[in-house]
Parts: sequence; C-alpha cells; structure tokens
Amino acid sequence: MVETLDIKITKVASSRLAQVDFNNIPFGKVYADHMFIADYRKGDWGHFRVVPYGHIQVSPATPALHYGQSIFEGLKAYKNDRNEALVFRPLDNWKRMNISADRLCMPYLPEDIFMEGMETLIRMDRNWIPTTLGSSLYIRPFMFSAEEYIGIRPSLDFTFMIINSPVGPYYSTPVRVKIETKYTRAIEGGTGFAKTGGNYAGSLYPAKLAQEQGYHQLIWTDGKEHKYVEESGTMNLMFVMDDVVVTPELGDTILRGITRDSVLALARQWGLKVEERKVTVKELVDGLKSGRVTEAFGAGTAATIAHIELIGYEGKNYFLPPVETRRFSNRVLEELDGIKHGTRPDTMGWIHTI
Ligand code: COI
Repeated sequence: MVETLDIKITKVASSRLAQVDFNNIPFGKVYADHMFIADYRKGDWGHFRVVPYGHIQVSPATPALHYGQSIFEGLKAYKNDRNEALVFRPLDNWKRMNISADRLCMPYLPEDIFMEGMETLIRMDRNWIPTTLGSSLYIRPFMFSAEEYIGIRPSLDFTFMIINSPVGPYYSTPVRVKIETKYTRAIEGGTGFAKTGGNYAGSLYPAKLAQEQGYHQLIWTDGKEHKYVEESGTMNLMFVMDDVVVTPELGDTILRGITRDSVLALARQWGLKVEERKVTVKELVDGLKSGRVTEAFGAGTAATIAHIELIGYEGKNYFLPPVETRRFSNRVLEELDGIKHGTRPDTMGWIHTI
C-alpha cells in the first residue's frame, strides 16, 4: 500500500516485550509497545501519530464517558514462517466500523487512516505477534466522541485509536450457555448491529446472573417475544441441524460478524447446505432433545469458534454431542487457523500481508 498519511512517530525508550510470557497470555491484559491516534476536529481527520502505549488524557466532560458515543472493532494478526504479519480481513472491519459510525452519529473514517494506522503499528510491533498455538495479536481499533460538552447532541470532536494486544485463547473449555428469556441484548430499531460500547455494557448484568448459575454466557433471544435465538454472548450463533449449517439471519439486532461470514463462506465452498433464517427457541430445544442438533457453536473474532457444551432452558440443561464428534465446526476451525497462519491456501483473498 502506498503511504499517504503523514504519521508522526514517537518510539518507546525501551520495549516491554521481554517481560511477556508468550506461553501464558491472558486475553486483553497485555498491550504492545505502541498505539495509533488520530483526531477529528472541525470536520476533518488529522494529527496522525504513533506514540508509546499508555494512558490518555480526556476531559471529564467527554460525551463518550457519559452517553456512550463510542464504537470499536476487533481483528487479529498472525505470523507465517517468513516472519510476515498476516491480518485477517481488515477491510471488512473497516467497513463495519463505518456502519457503526453512521448509526452512532460519528464521522466516516477513511480507509487509509484505518489501514495505514494499523500497518504502521504492525510494522513497529511485529515481534508482539505471538506464534504459540491458539495465540495471535488482537487489534483493537476504536473511536469515541471527544468534545468537552455534556449537552445531548452528536459530538463535534472525535478520537480514533488503535491498540494491540497479544492474546491466548478466549475460552479454555467448551462453553455452557443459557437461553435468556427475560433480558434483551438488542431490539429492532436499536443498535444491536453496531459494535458500540452500550450493547456490551447492557449485556453484563444478565450475563452475570447466568454466571452465578454456572453458565459461561447466554443465548440472546429477540426482545419482542423471546421466541427466536439471536446471538450467544458476544458471538454469532451457529448450529448443525440434520447436516444443514443453520444461523440466525442478519438484521437490526444481529452483528454482521466477520467470522460468521467466513464460516458460512467455507461451508458453501465445501458444498454444504447453509440456511440463514429465523431459529425459534422451540426448534432448538426440540432439536436438542431429539438429537437433530448435532453441533452448536459461537463464532467471533476473539474466540474464532467456541464449541457449546450444553444449553440451559427453563431449568434444564441439554448436552450437545462430544466436541470430538463435531465434524463441521472442527473442520472449519482447522481451515480458518490454517488460512490465518498461511499454512492453507487463501482462496477467498482474506489475508492482508504486511
Ligand atoms: C469478538 O469476538 O471479537 C468480540 O467482539 C469479543 C470482544 C468484545 C472481546
């Protein structure tokens, strides 16, 4: 890519890399040496800079802190055996970030700011990309309103940043999830399809209640009738039913997941039948009872594929078949891992090499 941005670079005096135990990386607690920042002022993006990772100063009257005018993305970088960084589908994250920005009255972020900011950071912090199995560099671009003003209206000033975090697996075991029939993650006309902080904040309390009952996460249902399943935790939800790959169809209440899209694309490439449609709680629970549902998993960037061990509904737990028997989700996980690490051909053009 031709560099067009004028990015001012300030390097760390000394790297923290040697302090990281790459064989034991918790999710989201360790951050690479540098971060990228851009400011939106008077209707334009500028002041592009890379600085040492660290705290930032914001006004206590920053609207993002009060009203949640903030959005984010998550994507991952891996390394191949030629020491090249392989980033998975970054342009799809950039596109989705602008869908979120539009819904939250935030400014359009041009492609070159997203991509050159990310590429500059990856080049500088290439050695922070873990190579241990199941690990990667989690890239977190985010944008927040930054005007000093606590009246309610769309902000005029914004900040866009990218921070990078070497991460290990998100879940260490298959997950236990409960079908949620009281609380709601998203409703039609709301912000469920946007990757905005408030969606995640509102999900914490119901998830906490489920965790107190021994579940890892929830299966969210629609906000009107709690009749249809939508997502699981922070992931899209997928099943194999009668050898068909089934997932809730996209709409206002469901995030347009990039892992979701990748799983469906591979399934179609392999000639499997795929259905994106409404899935009722009843169909799911009946299918679990009869054995018609042979696989269930969450699909997301952080976890890639999170096998679901059991699903709780109305006080009963329904177990899925053992993970070793799940042909589709294991195959898809292996294929995606291979593409991301450059050991399998990237026939879909998903890899951006740096
Ligand atoms: C992801 O799967 O990428 C997510 O959105 C999870 C993240 C909130 C940690």
